[in-house]
Amino acid sequence: MKSLNASLMTTAVWLALCSACPSAHAADAIASRPWMNGSKTSVQRTELLLKAMTLDEKLLLVFGYASGDQLAQVDSAVIPGVNTKEVIATVIPGSAGYIPGIPRLGIPAQHQADASIGVRNPNLERTSLPSSLATAASWDPRVAEAGGKMIGLEARQSGFNVMLAGGVNLAREPQNGRNFEYTGEDPLLAADMAAGLIRGVQSNHIISTIKHYLINAQETGRNIVSAQVSPAALRMSDALAFELAIEKSSPGSVMCSYNRINDVYACQNAFWQNQVLKGDWGYKGYVMSDWGAVHSTVLAATAGLDQQSGFPFDKAPYFAKPLKEAVEDGSVPQSRVDDMARRILWAMFDKGVMDHTVKAGPIDFAAHAKVSQSAAEQSLVLLKNEAGVLPLVAPKRVALIGSYADKAVLAGGGSASVTPIGGNAVPGLGPGGWLTQVWQPSSPMKALQQRMPSTQFSFDAGTDVASAAKAAAAADVAIVFVHQWTAESLDASLTLEGNQNDIVSAAAKANPNTVVVVESGGAILMPWQPDVKAILAAFYPGAAGGEAIARILTGEVNPSGRLPITFPASTDQLVRRQIAGKSDGPLFTVRYTEGAAVGYKWFDLHGHKPLYAFGHGLSYTSFELGGLQASQAKAQVTVKFSIRNAGSRAGDSVGQVYVRAPQSAHWEAPRRLVGFDKLKLKPGETGTSAVTIDPRLLATFDEATGEWVIAPGTYEVQLGAGSDDIRATAKLALAGRRFTSAQLRR
Ligand code: GLC
Repeated sequence: MKSLNASLMTTAVWLALCSACPSAHAADAIASRPWMNGSKTSVQRTELLLKAMTLDEKLLLVFGYASGDQLAQVDSAVIPGVNTKEVIATVIPGSAGYIPGIPRLGIPAQHQADASIGVRNPNLERTSLPSSLATAASWDPRVAEAGGKMIGLEARQSGFNVMLAGGVNLAREPQNGRNFEYTGEDPLLAADMAAGLIRGVQSNHIISTIKHYLINAQETGRNIVSAQVSPAALRMSDALAFELAIEKSSPGSVMCSYNRINDVYACQNAFWQNQVLKGDWGYKGYVMSDWGAVHSTVLAATAGLDQQSGFPFDKAPYFAKPLKEAVEDGSVPQSRVDDMARRILWAMFDKGVMDHTVKAGPIDFAAHAKVSQSAAEQSLVLLKNEAGVLPLVAPKRVALIGSYADKAVLAGGGSASVTPIGGNAVPGLGPGGWLTQVWQPSSPMKALQQRMPSTQFSFDAGTDVASAAKAAAAADVAIVFVHQWTAESLDASLTLEGNQNDIVSAAAKANPNTVVVVESGGAILMPWQPDVKAILAAFYPGAAGGEAIARILTGEVNPSGRLPITFPASTDQLVRRQIAGKSDGPLFTVRYTEGAAVGYKWFDLHGHKPLYAFGHGLSYTSFELGGLQASQAKAQVTVKFSIRNAGSRAGDSVGQVYVRAPQSAHWEAPRRLVGFDKLKLKPGETGTSAVTIDPRLLATFDEATGEWVIAPGTYEVQLGAGSDDIRATAKLALAGRRFTSAQLRR
C-alpha cells in the first residue's frame, strides 16, 4: 500500500513527465486499466476504478490544499505523511487549490481555479467576462454558455481542470457584496443563467462547481451567521435555483457555503446535503467545501461533505489523518469514504477530466475579448431614455465625467476578480491585497472617440462638483459615469460612495442632456433619477466593457438587457434596511422572514413600487407583445406568445411569462416568473415562442410529505416586457397535483 508520500512523490514525477509521456497502446492501456474504457458509462468506470484503490488513495482524493504560498506556512507535521514541499512544487502558483493525483491509477491531479467571471490568478492575466449579474441581464442562457465556454477554455489552457464557477445564490439582500458574482433574485432566471455558464465551462472537459450551497446571502459574518428560514421556503427559492440549475447543467461539484442554515453549518448539514441534494435531487457529483468552511471530521463526513478544500484555510486537516483514524475506529464507515471517492471519480469521468488530460497551451485573447464584449452588449440595461437623447448622434461636444471613464471600467472584488490583460488600469485602490480594486483597461472614452471622430470630447475626473458642473455646461451632452465597488467578504451600501450623487445632480443642473452610466455590483439608489435624461446600467461590463458601453450609447448596438434584480426606490422598501450582524463577534442569526418572497415578489406582496422593476429594460425600437395562449396537456403547461418589432431598427425583446395564483394556492407572493424567451427581430418582424412551465414553479413545497403541491384553481398567466409592464393576460385552469422532484426525473 503506497504511503501518501510515495503517491505524492510519484505524482510530482508523473506530472513532470506526463506532458511528454508516450500514450500507451489503447488496448494495453485498457487491459491494465479497464476504467479507461471510454465505451463504458461513467458509473461503470467509477466502480471499476474504485475497486482498484486502496484506502489511502481514496483519502488522497478527499483532502485539498490551498495554493503554495498559503501551504508554505504549514508545518508539514500537521499533515502526517504528506511532504508539503512536494505539494507546493506541484501546485500552480496563485491557484485556488489542488488535490494530488494518483499516477498508479491514471488519476490526474485536480488543479482548481476561481471563478464565475474568468480565471482568477494574480500571476495570470486572463479575460474577464461581464459580471454574472450583468450576463443574467441578457436573459439568454446562450450568452452565459458562450461565456462559460470561453473562460473554461482559458482555465484549461492555464492548466486547470476544476473551475470554481457557477455562483447562483439569490440576491436576497440587494446589499450583498457578492451579488455581482451571482445571477439575480429569481430562481428560474438565476438557474437558467448559472446553468448556461456551467454547461459552457464543462464543455472544455473540466469540472465546474455550483455555489454556494446554501443561502449564503450576505458577506457580513459569513462564517458565523445562521440563516434562519423554513426548509419549505428555501425549497421554493434559493434551493430551487440550485435544483433547477443542477438539472440543466449537471455540475461535477457543489460547493457548500460558510454559513449555518438553521444553526447547522452548511458543510455538515445532513438535511441539505444528504436528504435534499443527494436524496431528493439524486445528485451524483461531489460536495466540496468552501475554503475554510469545514468544522469537523466525523460530522462533516457523515453529513455529506465529500472533499475538504484549500487546507490550511480550515483550522485543522479534518479530512487528512483524522479521517483515516475515524475510519479505523469505525466512527466513519469505510462505505462513506468509498462514496466520497466515488462521487469525485464520477465527476472526473463524467466531465471528461480522466480522458482529456489538461496541458497548458496558447490562448486567443483577441477572440476571447470579443466573447466578453458580445456578452456585455447583450446584457447592459437601458433604464431610462427621454427625448431620445440616446443613441448619441455625433453631438459636437461631449463631456465625460467620473469613474476613470477615460481609461477603464470597474470589476468586482475577491475570488472572482480576474487580473486584466494589460494589468489593472487604475492600480492602488481598495483595501489592497486580494481585495484590490480592479479596473479593466477598456476605455469608454477612447471607444466613443473612435466612433465619433468629429465630436469634441472632454474628460473630468468627477471628484469636484464645481468642476464637473463646468464640464457639463460646456458640452452638448454630459455623460456621468458612476461606480459602486462591491467585493467578496464585504457588503455594500446602495448609496453611491463619495460625492458621486452630487456630481450627477450638478451635471444635470448644468446640462439638461445628462446621461448616467452606472458601473455597479447590483442595485443602487438614484436620487438624481428624475433629473437626468438617460440611464444605462452597465454593471461590471468585463474586459471589453468600454467598447460595449460605447456601442450602445452610439446605437451601433440596440440595448436588450432586462433587470435581473429589482432597483428599489429606497431602502425602506427592503425586507431589511441594512445587512444584519458583524463579522467579528458572537454567532448571530438572520431570520429571513420573507421566506421565498425574494426581490420583486416582496415588492408585489407589499405593493412597493420600485425605482426600476425586475425585468425592466428599454430598447431603441418598440415591441408589441401578444398572442398569449396557455394550455395544459398531460400535466405539461405550455405558454405561447408572439412579439412584433414595431420600430424601425432591429432589436431583441424578452417575452416574460408570469403567473398569478389564486389565494387558495397559498403562494409566498402574488406572482412568479415561470418562463421567458429572448427573440431577435428585424423591423416589422413577428416572432413566436412556446415555453413549457416547470411544474415546481406552479407549486408550493409540502415539507411534511416531501412533495410539490399544485393547488386546483384558475391561474392568471401574464405576458410582460417587464414585471411591471404586463401586455397580455390569459386564464389557466389547473387541476390539483402532488409530485416529488424524483418523479419529475423519470
Ligand atoms: C472563497 C469563496 C469561493 C471561492 C473559494 C476559493 O472564499 O467563497 O467562492 O471559490 O474561496 O477561492
